[in-house]
Order: sequence, then C-alpha cells, then structure tokens
Amino acid sequence: MGQAPVVYGQSTRPPRGDYSRANADYTCPQDYASYTDADHDTYRRLYERQRALLPGLASQAFIDALPSMGASDRIPRFEEVNERLYKATGWELVGVPGLIPEVPFFTLLANRKFPVTDWIRKPEEFEYIVEPDIFHDLFGHVPLLFNPVFADYVQRYGQGGLKAQGLGSCEMLSRLYWYTIEFGLIREAGQLRAYGAGILSSSGELAYSVQSPEPQRIPLQLERTMRTRYKIDTYQQTYFVIDSFEQLFEMTAADFAPIYERLRGLPEFAADEREAVAA
Ligand code: PHE
Repeated sequence: MGQAPVVYGQSTRPPRGDYSRANADYTCPQDYASYTDADHDTYRRLYERQRALLPGLASQAFIDALPSMGASDRIPRFEEVNERLYKATGWELVGVPGLIPEVPFFTLLANRKFPVTDWIRKPEEFEYIVEPDIFHDLFGHVPLLFNPVFADYVQRYGQGGLKAQGLGSCEMLSRLYWYTIEFGLIREAGQLRAYGAGILSSSGELAYSVQSPEPQRIPLQLERTMRTRYKIDTYQQTYFVIDSFEQLFEMTAADFAPIYERLRGLPEFAADEREAVAA
C-alpha cells in the first residue's frame, strides 16, 4: 500500500495522507504527537466559528450532541471521544490517512467503526479544503453518531454498501450517502435545518443550504436521489429534505437490489436539474 497516485471518489488529485502508515483495513493510529500548536489552533478556531453559526440552522439533535464530542480548544484524541460514543451507541472512531476505497469503508461502517482522517488542514485552507480532514470528519459526522437512529442508519448504509458493491451499484448508493449523510436537510418542528456533515462543517454552505433562495429543496425520495448526480466542488444546487431520522431509516429499509435493477435503465438527473414540486 502507499503507492501514489491513489484516486478515490470523484477527486482526480492524489490524496494527501500518508497511506504507508495504514494497516490492511486502512486504519492507522491517530498520530497525536505529530499535531503542532498551529494544528490545535486551527481546530479550535474552526470549531468556535462553526459552533457560533449553528443556532437556527443546524438540526437540534446535532446541537444537543455536540458537547458529547469533548474538547473544542484542541484536537481531541479519538480514545477520549470513544469512551462516550461507545457507551452512547456502540460506535467507535478509527483513524485513517484520508479517503479510503469503497470496500474497506463500507466494512468499517458495517462494524460500527467510523473512519476519521487524522490530519488537519493548513491555515491557508481555513475556508475551504478539497478533501475531508479531521475537522470535517469529527465536527461534521461524529455528533449525530450519538443519535441512536442515525447511528443505526450509518451502519445499515455500510452493510448496504457491501451489497451494492457485489451488484455494481455503488454509484447509485453513494448518491444516497451524499444527499443524506453529507448534505441532508431535515424539517424539525416545521423549520428547515441541516444535518449533513458537509454542510455542518462548512461556514458558507450552512446558511446557504437552509436560507438561500437559489438551490432547490425537495422531499427525499429514494429513486430520485439515487438518480441524481452531484458536484463535489460547489455548493449543492439540490438538497433532499427528510422529516425525521426515523423516516430516513424506514425509507431505506427495503431491499435495494430490485431498485438498482430498475434504475439501471433510467436516465440520471443533473445536479441542478429542477423538480416541479419543491419541498
Ligand atoms: N436497504 C438497503 C439495501 O438493501 C441498505 C441500506 C440501508 C442502504 C440504509 C442505505 C441506507 O441495500
């Protein structure tokens, strides 16, 4: 392992992490001693700014769970988060050098292990980074792993991924990940809020996704979502809205095999293709 270039997801550049440190399952110990004061400071400043933006925009479930993550004035140790997380939902964080291939990724999720990139962006990438770093992975993804229903959804996604892999349907399934776990919106007590990690860890997209008149927001429908392409380098032009995590869990409980089969012959939707009925 470790020969560059490795290309994961839609990115065409080699990932930044050092994959020679990784075990066969792509996990690696968090190299805590390697973080500099500047790294801890970057984390603290990102966290502070983002926390201040959450009220009225982030899912209440996320806001309520955020303190469970622990330290915000420095990069947390995975072990200290795990003590609380494991007790809450049986999930554990494991370090990884960055994005990892589909099968090891799905396998970790199916085993309730959440891969967290262990390096942090450079100060000049404060506003925007092309790859997930530890701030995105921790701040964006981990609070909702304290929610039992959402935590079960993510595990099911991993199991579903292993199945999709055998059926050649990972692309369709990955759109569901993108439009729920990364860029999902939820209606809570009549108000639109963000629960997707890509939104919650972005200073600009958080308000944009919830308040801007520009993007369309449509109710989550499995097949529409699986047919919708996505862009990784712009704010989303389409968001899918759920009513509750229970609804998300139930909606995705069906066997996807016949759905993949049926969708294979149907056209895709462009990322910005408009729907007649908005949410
Ligand atoms: N029900 C899906 C299947 O049969 C698995 C899945 C569950 C996928 C939840 C995503 C989210 O493939």
